[in-house]
Amino acid sequence: MSAMIDTPADAPARSNEIVTLQAHILQQQTRYPEASGQFSWILSALAISAKMIASHVRRARLDDVLGTVGNQNVQGEQQQKLDVIANDILLRTLGGREGVAIVASEENEEPVILRADDAAERKYCVLFDPLDGSSNLDVCGSVGTIFSILRKDRRSPQPQSSLLQPGAEQVAAGYVLYGSSTVFVLTIGLGVDMFVLDPAYGAFMRVAQGVRIPKSNKCYSVNEGNRLSFPEGYQKYLSWAQERGYSSRYAGAMVADVHRILLQGGVFMYPPTRKAPKGKLRLMYEANPMAMIVEQAGGKALSAPGERILEVRPTDIHQRVPVIIGSSEEVEHVAAHL
Ligand code: AHG
Ligand code: MN
Ligand code: MN
Repeated sequence: MSAMIDTPADAPARSNEIVTLQAHILQQQTRYPEASGQFSWILSALAISAKMIASHVRRARLDDVLGTVGNQNVQGEQQQKLDVIANDILLRTLGGREGVAIVASEENEEPVILRADDAAERKYCVLFDPLDGSSNLDVCGSVGTIFSILRKDRRSPQPQSSLLQPGAEQVAAGYVLYGSSTVFVLTIGLGVDMFVLDPAYGAFMRVAQGVRIPKSNKCYSVNEGNRLSFPEGYQKYLSWAQERGYSSRYAGAMVADVHRILLQGGVFMYPPTRKAPKGKLRLMYEANPMAMIVEQAGGKALSAPGERILEVRPTDIHQRVPVIIGSSEEVEHVAAHL
């Protein structure tokens, strides 16, 4: 007789169950009896960070923390005050987790070594974009947080190189959307689950398990203002889509745009432009985590025709990569024109 593991994680989900993100993480942990709990602690640090950042985002104008700090980050982009606040929150919450060896952020030029010793429990590296789409803040638009979790590569002598693993090696990835509600979307490689922050209880409540992206939807999401500087194939695709009655939707925050596509289908792109020949989005903490989410939901994520984002070999933690992400059929329509 084959062994059945009788754990809550294997029990059929009942539609009226109330499950918080915290309970969900503990349920998942029971699948791995050998688990030390370090990984669950990291996810819980991300959950509390999300609640704290959500609260700052909601109060930004009241607290007078809109606008730029006056500095540029490593990408040469203006840092918003909330970029710095969100980054600080993540560094401080993850800083308290014994399982995290290294963190890397869009806002820090170098990775932050939290614990240099090689103890067995220092197993994970967390990479993040603390606030995605931060220029939307001044106009009360949606913003997000994106994260990627890798196992520390013990063979690498340098911390920087231990982070440089292809996205296919991610053990978990997710994003938080600070929109009309605060949504936490997570994958640990077993499909995609979605949680919404209930402001009355201060807890993320599970609202969907095993999210699947629609196979197609006539919708594209791209900064069309750059159209004339896209490679020709992208321009041809846009003409092709427009002839077929596609809709265009673009929030200017990858998290918001990809979230819409995850739920309703379509394709999100950030192609190469003359100004940004490799595109604008960052591989390690924007493209890779979003690619893992979308693939886990049954979609596709390419950097070029036939090239999965998750297989790109990184050479720098801040490198950029072109992105074509979304419903499998819509991604293939774009690729067919390139
Ligand atoms: P960030 O605020 O973290 O720098 O990211 C902004 C990114 C991404 O969220 C969005 O898709 C893209 O920049 C928008 O860029 P354009 O303004 O060039 O369209
Ligand atoms: Mn971003
Ligand atoms: Mn950012």
